[in-house]
Amino acid sequence: MTIKVMPKEVIERIAAGEVVQRPASVIKELVENSIDAGATRIDITFTDGGINYMEVSDNGSGIPKGEIPVALKRHATSKITSADDLNKIRTMGFRGEALPSVAAVSRLTVITSPQNGDGAGDAYRYTVKGGTSGDIEPAARGEGTTVKVEELFFNVPARKKFLKTVNTEKRHIIKTVKSLALSRTDIAFSLNEERNNIFKYTASNLKERFVAINGKKLWDKLIKVDFENPFLKVSGYMTKPELFYSNKNKINFMVNDRPVYSPLIFHALMQGYRSYIPPNKYPSSVLNLEIKPAAVDVNVHPAKKEVRFVNQQGIHKIISTVMKNILQNTSAVLEIEVPEKNTNFNLKSSKARRGFFKGRKGRPAELTSFRNIDPVEATKFTISSFDEGSSKSRRIGEAARPAGRIIPRFQLLKKYIVGEDLNGLLLIDQHTAWERINFEKLQKQYSDDTINSQRDMFPEVMELEPGETELLKENTGLLKRFGIEIENFGPGTFKIVATPVIAGRDKGGKETIGMIEEIIDLLDKSSVVPDSRDLSDKIIETIACRKSIKAGDSMDEKEINNMIKQLMRCRIPHRCPHGRPVIVRISEDELDKRFDRK
Ligand SMILES: Nc1ncnc2c1ncn2[C@@H]1O[C@H](COP(=O)(O)OP(=O)(O)OP(=O)(O)O)[C@@H](O)[C@H]1O
Ligand SMILES: [Mg+2]
Repeated sequence: MTIKVMPKEVIERIAAGEVVQRPASVIKELVENSIDAGATRIDITFTDGGINYMEVSDNGSGIPKGEIPVALKRHATSKITSADDLNKIRTMGFRGEALPSVAAVSRLTVITSPQNGDGAGDAYRYTVKGGTSGDIEPAARGEGTTVKVEELFFNVPARKKFLKTVNTEKRHIIKTVKSLALSRTDIAFSLNEERNNIFKYTASNLKERFVAINGKKLWDKLIKVDFENPFLKVSGYMTKPELFYSNKNKINFMVNDRPVYSPLIFHALMQGYRSYIPPNKYPSSVLNLEIKPAAVDVNVHPAKKEVRFVNQQGIHKIISTVMKNILQNTSAVLEIEVPEKNTNFNLKSSKARRGFFKGRKGRPAELTSFRNIDPVEATKFTISSFDEGSSKSRRIGEAARPAGRIIPRFQLLKKYIVGEDLNGLLLIDQHTAWERINFEKLQKQYSDDTINSQRDMFPEVMELEPGETELLKENTGLLKRFGIEIENFGPGTFKIVATPVIAGRDKGGKETIGMIEEIIDLLDKSSVVPDSRDLSDKIIETIACRKSIKAGDSMDEKEINNMIKQLMRCRIPHRCPHGRPVIVRISEDELDKRFDRK
């Protein structure tokens, strides 16, 4: 075959395939153009999942008459003029590709009335079908631009076949517009399917819009995020750990006001939440990262959905640290909320909780600010939620404060400890409580490098697969820091010669072998995503869990008192390292109501 340069239409259609994958990608590009045009309101209408008709109308700057055909040419943009500008992109668009790409695979009509320049005050219409343009004609509309896109993929049957059902495409459109609406809360948005309004957002602030998009029940469950250092600013909202979801749909990120999909930010966020919410559950959040445009590359994805940071690791570290600090500061004993006829109760209880969300220095968590904290310093920033002595008040209005001291009473069902504090009845899960205690003890010993190990007279022997053998050999030094010593005994066989004292003596050997197997699994996974802090925490979790008193173990008074004493000293006493609750409280207020005393 001879090599030939492709005809223009083929080149355009191939390029269009990258930018325009489905109706939602067209809407994304058009709305982004309206944002760049300085619009303060954007109205979007579609029919049939956008496949036959989409329209985006704005009150932005409009396009000067003479520039309308240029706007539809490939590589024509008003947003950058030199390669240098690529390092300081502040606009959503910069490639001059969106309109020609859409026009190459649809019938696209622009109706625009420019505020300034050629033809200012008048309106014009211009249509392009499959890349072939018509004439500029007079039209009628107020200042701004409307772009209509009809018959998407009429000339690319293969792509059209790949589209999903009308409902799926509709869901994609809704999701896309919602994430754009979150990124610019100063703009009013409406989304309509034919004549039916799907949603309408007036210009407002981030908290109001976030709640309008993700549900009213979020309103008093949000923590404000406001962190800034010379390198990065992180702002937005995240949910308190008491509220979590089974999917990731309510997690939103923006980088310099551009909605992005970012596995990196997601991982950092989840790392922060890891000890607070159960596995496979997700928070809701909207976080905007502001960073110097030169420190982030927005040109790495054909639809500009992803970005790459120059310092990926630094960003990860800062975000996970900020999240951890905020959550630590917000930590509270879980309260049981029983459905009540008196709705005032819930209001009261959330107010009460807010009273508790104060750090040692009375810093309200809702306003948690880590301004100018160095990311490394930030890791050292801790506020104890069980600050004895600081809570003298007994008023019910401040009931959620863990009122000084937990007084244990008795063991229930060989699983729970029943106790009380000044605010009511407490139920403590003995297993998760010990997990938390051991976890924090080990964490401290690990960072001080003082984990004590004990030697076994008759060491357990375990057999391993070849890959696992290598992994253990490579990590002998690391394991030693955790008090675990393993010696090669024969081909594929190892002796566990020492284990951490905290893990206790294990007569059958089963628990110890299980613990080593779990650690091997962690090491295996971490070789794909190396993250030493995360890895060490997980190893500590595993050791802490092995040793912990299980459900079904009896505990006498002395043991109970000892456990409670140690639990009270923990930084995060109310959740185990895996995120399960340790303490549940039924407040005095609530008990009184249950017994009709109020
Ligand atoms: N709604 C609008 N209002 C005003 N001008 C617009 C509008 N839509 C497009 N334009 C003009 O048309 C030009 C081309 O738009 P297009 O979306 O193709 O490219 P871009 O936004 O510059 O870059 P990108 O391909 O990254 O989106 C823009 O640079 C802008 O000047
Ligand atoms: Mg654009």
